[in-house]
Amino acid sequence: MQVIIFDNAQDVAQSAAEWVAELINKKSNPVLGLATGSTPISLYKALVNKHKAGQINFNQTTTFNLDEYLGIDEQNKQSYRHFMNENLFNHVDIDKNKTFLPTCNQGENPRKQGLAYEDKIANAGGIDLQILGIGANGHIGFNEPTSSLASRTRIKTLSQQTLNDNSRLFAADEFQPTLAMTMGIATILDARYVLLMATGKNKAKAVKDMVTGALSAACPASALQMHENAIVLLDKEAASELE
Ligand code: F6R
Repeated sequence: MQVIIFDNAQDVAQSAAEWVAELINKKSNPVLGLATGSTPISLYKALVNKHKAGQINFNQTTTFNLDEYLGIDEQNKQSYRHFMNENLFNHVDIDKNKTFLPTCNQGENPRKQGLAYEDKIANAGGIDLQILGIGANGHIGFNEPTSSLASRTRIKTLSQQTLNDNSRLFAADEFQPTLAMTMGIATILDARYVLLMATGKNKAKAVKDMVTGALSAACPASALQMHENAIVLLDKEAASELE
């Protein structure tokens, strides 16, 4: 695991954007794994700026998101599809038919849908670079603590801590989903490179557990200790509990 500490969150985003740009410019038909949440928003802004400056094009890129809520459709402003459209896809030259999220259609077998997502990733050639955030409880994707380190794309129930952490994004009278379809930990570990971004003091404990703690399902992000190309980009606050 390569841990790089920056002065501030903006520098974390700039560095992450350089990694993505390098992949996209080097490889034909690159496959990117994407995350939602607050942390990667500044990465997506930096990528949009690079695209507008003529430094990167996304027209050959395929993307797979980590997760998507259950119980809301993609037109819903809270869906991760909507998030990706608003923060990245609508502002660059990506073919939306090559952007995928692990949706779960009602009435269809969820297990089969999870495995179909895995097949789609494999058929695209596998993920070259997976962007990750980290939950304050150490989750990656929506693999909450105690998730199997061998897990594949499936439905997960969100933990109370995740629901509390994310309630800031929902109005008081708005439906907040408690279930999500998420790539598993083994799915994430299959990516050729993983790039985890963490900023802010509230991530410091999870970062410490991920980097210096035991490899354990109690901190799903600790599974990245087993990945040969895991890059962890931190600001000083997120790194503040590392010795
Ligand atoms: C999002 C995701 C989550 C977030 C994590 C951190 O697709 O899979 O694991 O990366 O919850 O979220 P933020 O960045 O909002 O703190």
